[in-house]
Amino acid sequence: MAWTHAVFVPAYAKINLTLEVLGRRPDGFHDLASVLQAISLHDTLALAPAPDGARTLVCDVPVLAGEANLALRAAHLLAAHVVAAAGSDRGVRIELRKETPVQAGLGGGSADAAAALLALARLWGVAMSAETLRELAAQLGSDVPFFLAGGTALVEGRGERVTSLPDAEPLWLVLLKPPVAVPTGAAFAALGPGDWGDGAATAEVAGAVRRGAPLPLDRLVNTFEASVRRDYPLVARAWDDLLAAGAPVVRLSGSGPTLFAPFRELSPAAAAQQRLRAAGHETWLAHSVGRAEVERALPLADTRALGGTSLRLPSPSQRGGAGGEDPRPLPEP
Ligand code: C5P
Repeated sequence: MAWTHAVFVPAYAKINLTLEVLGRRPDGFHDLASVLQAISLHDTLALAPAPDGARTLVCDVPVLAGEANLALRAAHLLAAHVVAAAGSDRGVRIELRKETPVQAGLGGGSADAAAALLALARLWGVAMSAETLRELAAQLGSDVPFFLAGGTALVEGRGERVTSLPDAEPLWLVLLKPPVAVPTGAAFAALGPGDWGDGAATAEVAGAVRRGAPLPLDRLVNTFEASVRRDYPLVARAWDDLLAAGAPVVRLSGSGPTLFAPFRELSPAAAAQQRLRAAGHETWLAHSVGRAEVERALPLADTRALGGTSLRLPSPSQRGGAGGEDPRPLPEP
């Protein structure tokens, strides 16, 4: 039976609780050790089947619409895979509502791409191995595989080796995006061997998460911080403003420019955000998002299977979830 209306899918952003660049690889990328955490700030995708087989995307930030958009590229990539596997073509109309700032270090584009992959696998009735899904995700960007499972995860290699962890201690997060762009490639290029980490802080934080212990906030690290603070004075100034506003800990997310400050209680977080907003900073008050919350919101694929064998696409009734449609294949064009 044709499936005619849209599903809405949230695409949660991330912060890097730790981000250690371990060294340069022969392929030009860098090896990483990072503990990533999904957060409540999110974009929303609406995906509706397009019976004519066309794949299109509209976005409330018009400059982000178009073929370069990672969610649309995810649709094309999955469609190419489906064609190769089943000899049929698949259409979709994607509407993308942006909330996560772009080029911010929060993984917004990567989250959109992963959400599109998961939703379309279901919408198009594609069953594929978790490994294949991960490979498609990694082709779209280093951060994309993490967003297939969300929650808290240890990320290694170029970013494609994702080990799901239990949910880290829940935290309120004040996010502040200074008004500068830090291109990711340039941020990596600015690093030298003297900046590289050894992965010890990441191992310690991952260990605490595995034990269910409170996060050792004094062990949150980010290899990019020194160079980004040096090269972007507006980031250094925003950092000082966050500390002055009462943030006990301030860290960079990804290669920036967004800074985050974790809080264990809402009141000081809200007070800090208010002060920063009054001073003209672009801020958000968010919180960490556990894996169960991601799975409830995204009843589209068995993300638990991502650490294991085959990725099947159970129906909402099997999962006890709501808000999705039966994973019926679309009629052939
Ligand atoms: O994979 P992604 O498109 O996110 O990477 C953007 C750029 O960041 C790459 O072209 C590369 O220069 C750099 N990068 C890196 N090592 C990584 C991830 C990204 O050097 N692990």
